[in-house]
Amino acid sequence: MLKILSERFSGRSYLSSQQVSKTQMQLILEAGRCAPSCYNEQPWYFLVCDREKDSEGYEKILSSLAEGNKAWASSAPVLLVSIAGSKFTKSGKPNRWGPYDTGAAALSMMLEATALGLMAHQMGGFDEHMISQKFNIPSEFTPIAVMAIGYESPEEKHTPKDRKPMEVNFYSGTWGNSWK
Ligand SMILES: Cc1cc2nc3c(=O)[nH]c(=O)nc-3n(C[C@H](O)[C@H](O)[C@H](O)COP(=O)(O)O)c2cc1C
Repeated sequence: MLKILSERFSGRSYLSSQQVSKTQMQLILEAGRCAPSCYNEQPWYFLVCDREKDSEGYEKILSSLAEGNKAWASSAPVLLVSIAGSKFTKSGKPNRWGPYDTGAAALSMMLEATALGLMAHQMGGFDEHMISQKFNIPSEFTPIAVMAIGYESPEEKHTPKDRKPMEVNFYSGTWGNSWK
């Protein structure tokens, strides 16, 4: 397995004072652009807010988070929102792979962040209606998750990855028949 996959870790302790540079952010966003998508629609959109450069935007995202997330995510210097388009641009037909492709772009960005020595942590615990309203997001675009990015604090405690046994998720032959 690629080392970067096991190194990626959703921790909750960030070094509040250590910024993410513009160059690092550029690389992270480029990694998102590299993701595959259905019909190459690239239905992902990201609202990126750096606390230093856009404190107003940063506060808008922070205030939409569930209390439990606010508590730790407020020390991350960058918060971003991933947003999925719901229609194919050319045909106007529904794109049911929008959130799937947006997730692929988000994971690419997390892996790039990890490779740069940063820590990225996604959150589903936020008020999507509040985000849509605060950032004037049109109704055909759906906020999917918030991602915190920054340097990991030395206080962070790494735990081994907690995953279901392989036979629970991977099948062959028929549904429920464990892959062997
Ligand atoms: C879509 C999504 C939503 C998540 N929501 C939250 C959340 O609201 N709060 C939180 O602390 N972690 C959240 N997580 C992080 C998961 O808990 C974490 O990915 C999982 O425990 C596995 O740990 P790992 O990412 O370190 O491998 C979320 C992750 C994803 C992908």
